[in-house]
Amino acid sequence: RDRLDFYYFQGEAKYFESRVEKHGSTVLRINVPPGPFMARDPRVVAVLDAKSFPVLFDVDKVEKKNLFTGTYMPSTSLTGGFRVCSYLDPSEPTHTKVKQLLFSLLASRKDAVIPAFRSHFSSLLATVESQLVLGGKSNFNMLNDFTSFEFIADAYFGVLPSASDLGTTGPTKAAKWLIFQLHPLVTFGLPLILEEPLLHTVLLPPIFVSGDYKALYKYFYAAATKALDMAESLGLNRDEACHNLLFATVFNSYGGLKVMLPGILGRIAEAGEKFHQRLAAEVRIAVADAGGKVTIEALEKMELTKSAVWEALRLEPPVKFQYGRAKADMNIESHDAVFAVKKGEMLFGYQPCATKDPRVFGSTAREFVGDRFVGEGSKLLQYVYWSNGRETESPSVDNKQCPGKNLVVLVGRLLVVEMFLRYDTFAADVGVDLLGPKVEFTGVTKATSGPGA
Ligand code: HEM
Repeated sequence: RDRLDFYYFQGEAKYFESRVEKHGSTVLRINVPPGPFMARDPRVVAVLDAKSFPVLFDVDKVEKKNLFTGTYMPSTSLTGGFRVCSYLDPSEPTHTKVKQLLFSLLASRKDAVIPAFRSHFSSLLATVESQLVLGGKSNFNMLNDFTSFEFIADAYFGVLPSASDLGTTGPTKAAKWLIFQLHPLVTFGLPLILEEPLLHTVLLPPIFVSGDYKALYKYFYAAATKALDMAESLGLNRDEACHNLLFATVFNSYGGLKVMLPGILGRIAEAGEKFHQRLAAEVRIAVADAGGKVTIEALEKMELTKSAVWEALRLEPPVKFQYGRAKADMNIESHDAVFAVKKGEMLFGYQPCATKDPRVFGSTAREFVGDRFVGEGSKLLQYVYWSNGRETESPSVDNKQCPGKNLVVLVGRLLVVEMFLRYDTFAADVGVDLLGPKVEFTGVTKATSGPGA
């Protein structure tokens, strides 16, 4: 019954919110999907407020082994037979090596990010404009799926997937491989009678996606030579490193951008023209001050842009579920009570409940307040958790916080900058897609001032 409530009758947000309401507590024992036969034990202790949630970040208190996707784990045949970084606990030596590799890769490519983003997303927006002229509508998600894939691979490795043997098939192969790992948690809008036996009862056999995975691997093995050399110098085997680079790029980075960029765009679309004017003014002044260039220093000056991106990540964290297994008997505190948890119990957080906690964000907790984190408001950043850690803290080899944290926020800001250098305002319909928000442009108003005019 819980499974059906989660997938069909209530939907995920209501599933958790209604149970908090019913039991009058933000820490509770509940079941989470997918349950049998994919997960041995669906029982978790759910932490659903801003105060209790951070227990999941404390790797002294929780073990983070094999629980990236939750109470089930996809077959390692989908990742070359390896348990990749996201499934490793920081106590495992390979975790340190792979995470260090990713830090080194991102540092070595930091100057490539802004030019790659601008080039790929300005051509996306040119396509949006021609689609608007032709049909009055333009589906951002569809264009973003292709563009983000090209952009992220270009930024990390300097080799366009579309110029390799993959051609334009990369995003489709990636999406299929992602579905083979995430199908237990999502609904595809098919009738219950089909979806339950096909997608929510047993894991899909990896063999049906192995050809696609091999093609993706081939691209990485050829394109990531420098990163693979780096990996060897860190003591990693080239093959294991390549599967990890593939996962970090396609699952963590591409999967994240697929959900995050429509999320940011959708929230800003809904915030309306007045807010767009404020963003456009800020972006254009900072870029003009930097001699017409989009630089890191210019981005740092954009307080409202930064705040709007964090606000979108707060309301719509792209990765909503986090898990951790209690390492010892412990107490977990909510705002109102203390709960005893036993060693070995699975802790689970549904992040949107924690980051919309009214005890922290007040009566506007569920609303988009674009300037929430400007000035004094920055004190609230410690309650933004999208990266599996506080926004005021940093990822390291010793924790499980997302190593892409700074890059992700940078990319979010770059999207806002690109939009408001080019447009005074825009309009879009915002709906729901498989893994997150869906955004369809319905109109753009070209910039009448500033560097983009
Ligand atoms: C971990 C979110 C982009 C690489 C995580 C976790 C979250 C997250 C929530 C923790 C998962 C858990 O342990 O429960 C996101 C979001 C992204 C994004 C929302 C984009 C919108 C990236 C990027 C990279 C990346 C660009 C590229 C390096 C990783 C890796 C881990 C991770 C390797 C595992 C960290 C560890 O084992 O210590 N991410 N991420 N992610 N992320 Fe990201």
